[in-house]
Amino acid sequence: MNVRAMLLLLLLPWAVPGLASAQAPPPKAAGIEDEGYVWNEQAGEKIEALALEGDVENGEEAYEICSACHLPNGAGRPDGTFPQLAGQHSTVLIKQMSDIRAGLRDNPIMYPFAKTLIDPQELADVSAYIETLAIPSDNGKGPGTDLDEGKTLYDANCVSCHGDYGEGDAQKYYPVLAGQHYEYMLRQITDIRDGRRRNANPEMVEVVKPYSDEELAAVADYMSRLAWPARQAK
Ligand code: HEC
Ligand code: HEC
Repeated sequence: MNVRAMLLLLLLPWAVPGLASAQAPPPKAAGIEDEGYVWNEQAGEKIEALALEGDVENGEEAYEICSACHLPNGAGRPDGTFPQLAGQHSTVLIKQMSDIRAGLRDNPIMYPFAKTLIDPQELADVSAYIETLAIPSDNGKGPGTDLDEGKTLYDANCVSCHGDYGEGDAQKYYPVLAGQHYEYMLRQITDIRDGRRRNANPEMVEVVKPYSDEELAAVADYMSRLAWPARQAK
């Protein structure tokens, strides 16, 4: 780990006055459990950040604090505690970070660090930088026991949005899944099925609702082996 990032991680909550507010519990916005929920509502700092051009150099500096958990190359951890971020669409990154900052996606571990981004410009900058990083191929894979079933499920219910290579869709805010860790994806789709990921896409929720735990594991295992040549590390 980058030494400066590690020091920042240790010192920040005490050393930076602006982070005093980060000691307060994260906010809680109405999410998918709320009747009036609109997925990806075009409101708040997200639309400001989306309209700005991200500065990759500033983004690299802002990313230093993030690298303590997500690692300097964006790879996260194969055990799924920290997701892989490299090569993700900047639109998706901006949406997810805005949701975390607004308390629409619960992430108490990361919340104080998400708040270190000072304004929509810095959100755009760090997202532009992360998008330039190559997707590592040594991500955490599943056990490899039900890959045929995983492929059948993926082709039937997921490929229409997440794509043949797991490339998602930048315009539609569908995330890149290529290179993502098995354990992380399994946790996310379980949370999405069970209503715990409160910023989820309702169309996807309908799709995964009838899935058993075994089916979720099979499809996550299959997805953990997807590669998107255009953004994959050589
Ligand atoms: C203390 C560790 C930690 C730090 C520091 C951290 N994160 Fe995270 N981040 C996490 C965890 C844990 C998750 C996944 C939580 C979950 O399971 O939903 C996450 C999730 C994310 C996601 C959502 C990924 C996805 O695929 O939906 C993005 C984007 C992200 N982080 C960006 C950042 C950025 C940018 C920074 C720096 C400003 C940062 N993180 C700092 C721990 C951290
Ligand atoms: C209608 C389009 C659509 C379909 C169909 C769909 N998804 Fe998704 N998926 C999304 C969107 C949009 C998100 C991000 C939601 C948000 O805004 O937080 C997502 C998020 C995810 C995530 C979390 C990614 C991350 O980085 O946190 C995983 C894993 C996933 N989908 C897997 C699947 C699987 C498996 C299927 C099929 C069983 C599927 N999806 C079907 C649109 C879709």
